[in-house]
Amino acid sequence: MSEISFKDKVVVVTGAGGGLGKHYCLEYAKRGAKVVVNDLGGSLSGNDDGGSKAADVVVNEIKSSGGIAVADYNNVLDGDKIIETAVKNFGTVHILINNAGILRDASFKKMNERDFQLVLDVHVNGAFKATQAAWEHFRKQGYGRVINTASPAGLYGNFGQTNYSAAKSGLVGFAETLAKEGEKYNIVVNTIAPLAKSRMTESVLPPPILEQLSPAKIAPLVLYLTHDSNQTTGQIFEVAAGFYGQIRWERSGGVLFKPDESFTAESVAKKFDEILNFDDSSKPELLKNQHPFMLNFYEELTKNARQLPSNDNSGVDP
Ligand code: NAI
Repeated sequence: MSEISFKDKVVVVTGAGGGLGKHYCLEYAKRGAKVVVNDLGGSLSGNDDGGSKAADVVVNEIKSSGGIAVADYNNVLDGDKIIETAVKNFGTVHILINNAGILRDASFKKMNERDFQLVLDVHVNGAFKATQAAWEHFRKQGYGRVINTASPAGLYGNFGQTNYSAAKSGLVGFAETLAKEGEKYNIVVNTIAPLAKSRMTESVLPPPILEQLSPAKIAPLVLYLTHDSNQTTGQIFEVAAGFYGQIRWERSGGVLFKPDESFTAESVAKKFDEILNFDDSSKPELLKNQHPFMLNFYEELTKNARQLPSNDNSGVDP
């Protein structure tokens, strides 16, 4: 297989002053990309803006190995400014890695509104702002690659992380729709749910486990998914410690109540075991993969979606 090169590609990685993002930047630069290293240098909880150092260190490391990189210190909530940095320095953006993140863990009983909101803001709204600013360049040039960073906590839940889980599963849905809207413009969008050694995990996992969780084991999948040669889009990947796997939805065979049956809680209770039975399951990927019975609804939904006005009045083009 030929080498996976990123020569002349412009890559933006948010939250790249340390952890996973830093590894991605180093790897992209090694393979010829022009890299925008974004990081506001904040603390794990996003309490303070640490400044320019975190991003500068990564840029210097890339430059001293002969690579091309520029630092950007914007908050992802100003994601449009990060993309501006790419355009100002390198003319466009080809690849966006939505990676910036914070943690504000608390049991749900103690979760306050600010900590809930801020985590959603950084992960979801940050990804929205950066991706939307990049989107117009992707569409114009007929090329774009996006990675959203979810988490096993977003897929399965994790004690003390209702805010983080909500944000991370939000990114999954965000990417699934982006993938569908981007397909005809050669915009490929995927989501990863990683586990790796970083300041996020250093205090919760024991050293022998952490040793196996190098971020260097996450970067290969991110690079492959964002390469020209990959057309797989709208998918979720779980990646950790050298394991690379795909996650997908599975729907049980289910129960279709007949029109002459009563639609009551008691009828559901009676058939609940059947509803939970996955013997005859399917793996839907599109709205139109709904149960055949639902297809009529899907057609109506698509028809209505096409009629939705968009901000630029050009209409929705799903
Ligand atoms: P990290 O804390 O080393 O990296 C996150 C970076 O994002 C930091 O450098 C931070 O300064 C930056 N950042 C935070 N808020 C920002 C903002 N508003 N604007 C710009 N930059 C901001 O942690 P790590 O582990 O490298 O995390 C990277 C991504 O991977 C995050 O989205 C995290 O939620 C996700 N993740 C990590 C896992 C792990 O096991 N390390 C597990 C699952 C998901």
